[in-house]
Amino acid sequence: MKFWLLLSLFLLHEALQNVMGQHPPKNKRPKEPAENKIKPAIKRFKPKITKMKEREPTDSASKTPSIMTQVLDKGRFQKPAAMMSLAAGQSLELRCKGNKIGWGYPSVLDTFKDSRLSIKQNEKYSQLTLMNTTAADTGEFSCWSKSCDGPECQKDESKTGSTYIFFTDKGELFVPSSSYFEIVYLSPDKPTVVPCRVTVPSAKVTLHREFPAEEIKTDGTNIVYDVKRGFVYQQPTADHKGIVYCRAEARGAPKISIKYHLLYVEVPSGPPSATIAASSSRVKGGENISVVCTVLGEPDVEVKFNWTYPGQEYQRPVTIQNTWRLVDRGVGHTTRLSKSVIGVEDFETIDAGYYICVAQNLRGQTTVTALVAHF
Ligand SMILES: *[C@@H]1O[C@H](CO)[C@@H](O)[C@H](O)[C@H]1NC(C)=O
Ligand SMILES: *[C@@H]1O[C@H](CO)[C@@H](O)[C@H](O)[C@H]1NC(C)=O
Ligand SMILES: *[C@@H]1O[C@H](CO)[C@@H](O)[C@H](O)[C@H]1NC(C)=O
Repeated sequence: MKFWLLLSLFLLHEALQNVMGQHPPKNKRPKEPAENKIKPAIKRFKPKITKMKEREPTDSASKTPSIMTQVLDKGRFQKPAAMMSLAAGQSLELRCKGNKIGWGYPSVLDTFKDSRLSIKQNEKYSQLTLMNTTAADTGEFSCWSKSCDGPECQKDESKTGSTYIFFTDKGELFVPSSSYFEIVYLSPDKPTVVPCRVTVPSAKVTLHREFPAEEIKTDGTNIVYDVKRGFVYQQPTADHKGIVYCRAEARGAPKISIKYHLLYVEVPSGPPSATIAASSSRVKGGENISVVCTVLGEPDVEVKFNWTYPGQEYQRPVTIQNTWRLVDRGVGHTTRLSKSVIGVEDFETIDAGYYICVAQNLRGQTTVTALVAHF
């Protein structure tokens, strides 16, 4: 959790520097503050990028009876609907039957171990209580029974429950975000979400481009609005890049969301595309060498490196340094440059041979090899 927060902060910082160049983010104040910027007085959330990852709703909920109940007030219970609206400010109490229950809830509640949230396992049910709810708590709440064999627990897919709750607040038609500006990456092979979610399910939401100022038509196939996620681009292309925002209308005056900067990511996802280079391919004894393994890839895809080298079986000491940074490759094109450098000091005969770098991401791995000879 902490790592991801730090990574997100770092990414945001890097991306803003790359994207905004001449405008340092501090000086940037939009002419009209977007409605879903969290007011400065509420300092509960740290900036983050598109990490509004709600846990997936459980499909099995529709087939088997839900184990979830909502406690309305003393002695009154109801089965929560798949989606429901509650007024922000109230407290929420959900219960799920079972003696070992796991819970899913909007990730904002995790950010600082929010003291408004409490979960208590009783003998026959688990109880989730959320006090002083706000529009930012809007999202999926789910629970599941765990069947455990010793310390190992598994989710029992036949005993689950979930509900998506809109916490409506007159002042917040959009689910508040932590910043005025978010970066969203468009990749050619997976859907991209502009996460402008609303707190009123019946709101009419439209998507707009900033320059040229125009509404982006959602044709219901490639770009669709999903009330639980935002605008989903099913097949993003480079033409979709640019700055967009959402506009929502319920009763009353229309509101606009924060701005989303859509960056197109050039490199299609797949196993990493790696290259390798040795500082020298023929080395004298006593010299220092380094071999660099480099991967260019998508900004949000982490790459892991693993080296195999000649001195390994002799437990030869080496240094390995892994780093990455974002490289701006022109308007709206950003690449992540990941590097692993293996260093060998005081070269000996046992160090001669093949230096093999395995670069791995979630899509697969790539192996590249450099030969370093002794002379
Ligand atoms: C809820 O709000 C009330 C009134 O503002 C406050 O006194 C109380 O401490 C809050 N409770 C939590 C758990 O934040
Ligand atoms: C190799 O690196 C070590 C440590 O950085 C340094 O002290 C030494 O002088 C280097 N040797 C050569 C031949 O450059
Ligand atoms: C690196 O690769 C070797 C050989 O395939 C494997 O045994 C080792 O577990 C890997 N290490 C890491 C950290 O993935």
